[in-house]
Amino acid sequence: MVNYKDLGLVNTRDMFARAIAGGYAIPAFNFNTMEQMQAIVMAAVETKSPVIMQVSKGARNYANATILRYMAEGAVAYAKELGCEHPEIVLHLDHGDSFEICKDCIDMGFSSVMFDGSSLPYEENIAITKKVVEYAHKYDVTVEAELGVLAGVEDEVVAAESHYTKPEEVIDFTTKSGCDSLAISIGTSHGAYKFTPEQCTRDPKTGLLVPPPLAFDVLEEIEKKLPGFPIVLHGSSSVPQDEVATINAFGGKLPDAIGIPEDQLRKAAKSAVCKINIDSDSRLAMTAAIRKHLAEHPDHFDPRQYLKPARENMKKMYIHKIVNVLGSDGKLAQC
Ligand code: G3H
Ligand code: 13P
Ligand code: ZN
Repeated sequence: MVNYKDLGLVNTRDMFARAIAGGYAIPAFNFNTMEQMQAIVMAAVETKSPVIMQVSKGARNYANATILRYMAEGAVAYAKELGCEHPEIVLHLDHGDSFEICKDCIDMGFSSVMFDGSSLPYEENIAITKKVVEYAHKYDVTVEAELGVLAGVEDEVVAAESHYTKPEEVIDFTTKSGCDSLAISIGTSHGAYKFTPEQCTRDPKTGLLVPPPLAFDVLEEIEKKLPGFPIVLHGSSSVPQDEVATINAFGGKLPDAIGIPEDQLRKAAKSAVCKINIDSDSRLAMTAAIRKHLAEHPDHFDPRQYLKPARENMKKMYIHKIVNVLGSDGKLAQC
């Protein structure tokens, strides 16, 4: 049993309270590789932002859970080495799908876990979330739950249709489960294809797809029912069109990839939404830089030659999100 506090990590409680009061959101970036971890830490340190580093079940399978945990411990040391004396880094399990995986993460030093029971019947979602909360709170680990179904792929759970969170359920759900934050469905979805072209309109000048707006009316209803309660948005990559264009220009094929416009996320960050999940944008930034580099330098075969610009491009993207979209720059409790 390792407690996250001994690793220099923090839970989400205090940073969420400050984010809601201050009208900004904490970035939750997924990581699977060392370059993503380094880019996240460099961006957080440069902007003096708290940050959530999250690990999916897929990341655990790809990189090995123990290695990822040590990388998070390394992230704290790296942030200090970069000059940040009091980094606020959360190590969070993303989309945990059982009590056992949540417990495993808590036992190995995660400071926050998500139990995603959104595909389960309502009462079963409450029961397992409650069991996770009871275990997690013994170690001061915070728990995110989910109500409502996002369209697209929820890790290994495929949801063809989204079902917005029902505001009439949120008081009962959070009270009975005891969760610390709630992920809701208001029109975001996972991946680089968040809307079909049929769901969008087209900008007559650029020809680019314009997605439908998020359901801010549902968000407002939820905020009224749960004043001051931390709300989480998954599936919040904006799928930058310049990265998509670079990927397509250098041999990729991502036609009509589309995300959540950043002005929608900026608006959400000013509300009780205090955690915004971004994974696909990091994948796009990395892939675009690697494709471009290899196309322009066909003689390169040392991974450091193409992973360095990939890391730089991800860092630039993370800084942009922190400063221009979420507004969490300069929000460390202590520098
Ligand atoms: O919510 C899903 C995240 O983007 C993680 O995706 O399961 O492919 O690692 P993954
Ligand atoms: P994106 O696919 O939009 O980056 O969403 C990531 C996410 O929600 C991770 O839980
Ligand atoms: Zn998610």
